[in-house]
Amino acid sequence: MCGIVGYIGRREAAPIIVEGLKKLEYRGYDSFGIATLDNTLHLDKHKGRISENPQVASLLKGKIGVGHTRWATHGIPNDANAHPHIDCTGKIALVHNGIIENFTELRRQLLSRGHLFKSETDTEVIVHLIEEAYGRKRNLLDAVQEVLPLLEGSYAILVISLTEERLIAARNASPLVIGIGDGENFAASDMTPIIEHTERAVFLEDGDIASITRGKIEIFNKNNPVSRPVELIDWSQEDVKKGGYPHFMLKEIYEQPQALYNTIRSVDMDNLPKILRNPQSVTVVACGSSFHAGLIFKYLLEGACGIPARMEYASEFKYFPPPVEDLVIGITQSGETADTLAALRQAKTHNCRTLAITNVLGSTICRTVDNTIFMRAGPEISVAATKSFVAQLAVLMQVINCLCGRKCDDILQHAHQAIEEVLLMDLTDAVNLCKGASDIFYVGRGPFYPLCLEGALKMKEISYIHAEGYAAGELKHGPFALLSQETPVIALCMPGETYGVMVSNIKEMKARGAPVIAIGCRTDTELSDIVDIFIGLPKTPMFVQVLTTLVVLQLLAYHTAVSLGCDIDKPRNLAKSVTVE
Ligand code: G6P
Repeated sequence: MCGIVGYIGRREAAPIIVEGLKKLEYRGYDSFGIATLDNTLHLDKHKGRISENPQVASLLKGKIGVGHTRWATHGIPNDANAHPHIDCTGKIALVHNGIIENFTELRRQLLSRGHLFKSETDTEVIVHLIEEAYGRKRNLLDAVQEVLPLLEGSYAILVISLTEERLIAARNASPLVIGIGDGENFAASDMTPIIEHTERAVFLEDGDIASITRGKIEIFNKNNPVSRPVELIDWSQEDVKKGGYPHFMLKEIYEQPQALYNTIRSVDMDNLPKILRNPQSVTVVACGSSFHAGLIFKYLLEGACGIPARMEYASEFKYFPPPVEDLVIGITQSGETADTLAALRQAKTHNCRTLAITNVLGSTICRTVDNTIFMRAGPEISVAATKSFVAQLAVLMQVINCLCGRKCDDILQHAHQAIEEVLLMDLTDAVNLCKGASDIFYVGRGPFYPLCLEGALKMKEISYIHAEGYAAGELKHGPFALLSQETPVIALCMPGETYGVMVSNIKEMKARGAPVIAIGCRTDTELSDIVDIFIGLPKTPMFVQVLTTLVVLQLLAYHTAVSLGCDIDKPRNLAKSVTVE
C-alpha cells in the first residue's frame, strides 16, 4: 500500500504534489519521490518521510508531474527503491501502488534483453516494459495499454514521458481517482490530496486506463472508450485526513477486503515449503490480537492435517518456555513487540527454526528470525488491530495450505468478496443493546472461540465496556453466576459440528435471563426464533465464516464505542506498538 499523486495544468506541479503526498503519508512513509517535466525530466527521491524533508522536491520545475509515498513491499526502504522509477532512456517516469506478482519472470526477461535495473522493486519492470512498447507504438497511451495485460497482480499507476504533455493513469485492484479542475487535472490514490483543488472527481474502475491532459480526460477499458460518472465530493478538511472516514479504525475495517486479497496473493507458495520444512510440531508466540490470530491458526491447522500446534503468550514464553523443538512462529503486526521479540530470541537458544509473520518491512523482528513472511495490510494507524488481523489469517491460511499439501483454493481467492457484503450490514439493534451494558460475554466453539476473545478485546479496548470471551462450554463453570438481564451474551453459532450444542448453550443462557445476540447463517430461522437479536451472515465455507463474523464483531465494537463518544483511534492507556515488557 502506497500513495500516489499526479498533476497536469498551468501551475508548478511539484509544490502541489508535495502537499498531496504529505496527506497520503497514512498509506506509507518509508520513502518518497517526485518526477516533473519541463524540457527535461527532473527527479528527486529519498528514504524517509516527505513531511520531514520536502525542500528539494518542491523546487523541481515543470507543470506536469507524478509523486509517490511508499510502504515498502519488495526491497528495503532506501533511495533507489523509492518511486518514481525511470526507464533506461531516462524519458519515462512511473509511480505504482500495488504488487506485481509475476515481476521475477518479467525482470528476468527484461534483463536478458539488456535493460538495466536500478532498484529491487517489483514496480521497475513496468517502466522498462513501457519503454519497449513505446518503441513500437505511436504514443504513451498505446504503449501502456500494450503492457497492462502482461502484469499479474494489483496496480494503480501514473506514467509521464518527456515526449508528451499528458499523464497516463491505470488501475487494477488498487484505488485511483481523477480530480477535474479548471484547465488542470489531478490523479491520486484517494481524494485526500485533491479536495483542496476541486470537488469534481472520477473514480476509475478495474481495467480502466486514462489519458489526462490539461483540458481533457479520456478513459478506456479493454481498448474501448468508456464514460465514468463525475462525482461531487463534499468533504471537510477534517474528513480529508482519513480519506473520508470519521476514524482510521473504520477506514481500516473497510480496507480489509483489499488487505486479504493482497496478502493471500503475495505469499510465495513456491518458497514456503523451503521455509516451513515439514515440521513435526509448530509453536506460535504472539501478544494481543496477534495471539488470537495464532489461536485460530492452531484450531484450523490441527483440524486440517493433525500437525500439533501450540499457542503461547509471548510474555509468558520468555520466562517459562515450554519444551520446544522444530518450528516457532512469531506473529506481530508491528514487528517491534518486545515480548514477541524476546520469545523468538529465546526459541533460537533452543535451536528452533524461527519464522516471523509481520506487516512492517525492516522491523526489528526481521533481523531476529531465520525467515519472515510479510502481510500486505498496509499501514495500520488505529491502535486497535483490524486489517492486520485479517492479513495475519491470510498468511496463516497459506501456511496451513502448504503444510497440508493443498493449493490456494478458490474459496480463499474470493473470501474478500464475502467481507465486502458484511461491511454494509446494519447493526443498530445490537449496538443499542451493547452500549447500555457494563459487562458483555462472547461465546463460541472451535475457531470461533478465539474470535470471541478478539471480539471481546475490541469491545473493551475501544468502548471501555468490560467484555469476556469464553469457550461456550465454559460459561457454566463460573460466569453463569453473573448472567442477568443486564449482561448481553454474543453467541457465535454457525452451521457445523458444534451447532447443536451451541443452540443448547444459548437456551441455557436465555433461561438465566441474559439477552442473546446471535451471529449465525442468514437462513437459520431456528436460531433467529430463539434469540433476542439475530445477525444473519451469508452462507459460506467455514474459514470465510470466521472472517465475516470477525468483521461483524469489529463493527459492533466500533459503533458501540462511537455511540458512547469514545476516542476510537487512541483508546486511553493503550499503545499501538508495545516495545517494553
Ligand atoms: C498492542 C496493540 C494490539 C496488538 C498488540 C500486539 O497491544 O494495541 O492491537 O494486537 O500490541 O502487537 P503486534 O504488533 O505484536 O501484533
